[in-house]
Amino acid sequence: YVIGIDLGTSAVKILLVDQNGNVTQEVTKQFALIQEKPGYSEQHPEDWVEQTIAGLAELLEKFPGNKDAIEGISFSGQMHGLVLLDENKNVLRPAILWNDTRTTAQCEEIYRMVGEKRLLDITKNPALEGFTLPKLLWVKQHEPEIYAQVKTFVLPKDYVRYRLTGALHMDYSDAAGTLLLDIANKEWSSELCDVLGIEASLCPPLVDSHEEVGSVTEEVSEKTGLSSATRVFAGGADNACGAIGAGILSEGKTLCSIGTSGVVLSYEPQADKEFGGKVHYFNHGSPDAYYTMGVTLAAGHSLSWFKDVFAEDVSFEELLAEIATVSVGSNGLLFTPYISGERSPHADAIIRGSFIGMDSRHKRKDFVRAVMEGITFSLNESLELFRESGKTVDTVISSGGGSKNEAWLQMQADIFQATIVKLSNEQGPGMGAAMLAAYGCGWFASLQECADSFLETDKLYKPKAENVAKYKELFAIYQDVYGQTKKLND
Ligand code: XUL
Repeated sequence: YVIGIDLGTSAVKILLVDQNGNVTQEVTKQFALIQEKPGYSEQHPEDWVEQTIAGLAELLEKFPGNKDAIEGISFSGQMHGLVLLDENKNVLRPAILWNDTRTTAQCEEIYRMVGEKRLLDITKNPALEGFTLPKLLWVKQHEPEIYAQVKTFVLPKDYVRYRLTGALHMDYSDAAGTLLLDIANKEWSSELCDVLGIEASLCPPLVDSHEEVGSVTEEVSEKTGLSSATRVFAGGADNACGAIGAGILSEGKTLCSIGTSGVVLSYEPQADKEFGGKVHYFNHGSPDAYYTMGVTLAAGHSLSWFKDVFAEDVSFEELLAEIATVSVGSNGLLFTPYISGERSPHADAIIRGSFIGMDSRHKRKDFVRAVMEGITFSLNESLELFRESGKTVDTVISSGGGSKNEAWLQMQADIFQATIVKLSNEQGPGMGAAMLAAYGCGWFASLQECADSFLETDKLYKPKAENVAKYKELFAIYQDVYGQTKKLND
């Protein structure tokens, strides 16, 4: 067996996976978010550790066999969160998370000091409030007495791994989201550290995601029931692990994951493409590979917002079931999902969404379908950018809430103009973490071999020519709406 630990933003999800890729046990433990001021989002690293250890103990209690049969553990983690440690590796302040937006001034400063072109050359990504470097600069400027004690910084799952093993590392896939990594050369950028006045010694040692970094400490072994011989592998960023868990491990493979936010993510063998920061470009958890990623901030969130405001009395399943009888294009109704701003491709926190083309004959179900089409159009904008860079996007593995509804899967095929694959045993980033442990333990010669053995296709959805033609027309109108409504909120 191996264990995949997925440290999310609201909970840690722990999967016990056997040699055939079956999840035989699963435990989820929640933790709280601290939001002291508007835009602030923090968590106590100690809560992650406590809940992970409690979760492991619960999992082990339900495990009847010999504990030595659990050979390895690895991790998936929420990205970008800043954890600051002093010289004794004690936590100096609550972690500042990926969805904390207090750092606009620091992002502007990064552009001013480094220059946008140089920043993109080195990190391949724009300066976004969510990334780690602006958070580090914020602490330096606003809490100098804390910053003076910082010996090293890590990301959320790195801290949990440290507490389980006593070894401190960061893997390339998560380091890529700090905005301090030279992603093509896989090393910390001394140039960025110099220009921005960050001591290079604060950056932790880098490792590959499948690299073995230690084993479980005696103390953790006692608390959880895990054998202290259990091997621990570094793990990766949640999006990288989500990609591994869906088998996005070779050129031409793309993932569409729709949860609260939505992600389209495509495998890249190299870091040599130019996207001008419109999509993210990160190191993969698969050795020496990369992925590009577009994010729709309010994907599932647009639907839950709609349900809360207009359809409180029905379940999600009932609401989504209504759309099967609505024709392609929602009878002329169009939605843009910018209800909390947009990440890709616009990186615009101010833009807001719209319903366009309302008719007195429209029913609730037309609105629901329009919301789902708008979310899918938004994700398609990122896919179009992938295609413009020369990438072939003909097969998209669909995961998350967006893969649970037949009509939405067909809609993805028609809007993305690609075959949509629904997996029968899709488990998200936790499975990617377990696969890193399985590969690290030597069960397979490559992650691809592991994916071939663990993952199974349930159903394929092919684009239908007449729907594709209709959606092409509507997508052009959708793309116009952003520019036409931008001034509304400026
Ligand atoms: C990626 C991002 C989120 C977090 C969520 O850039 O900010 O997907 O990784 O955990």
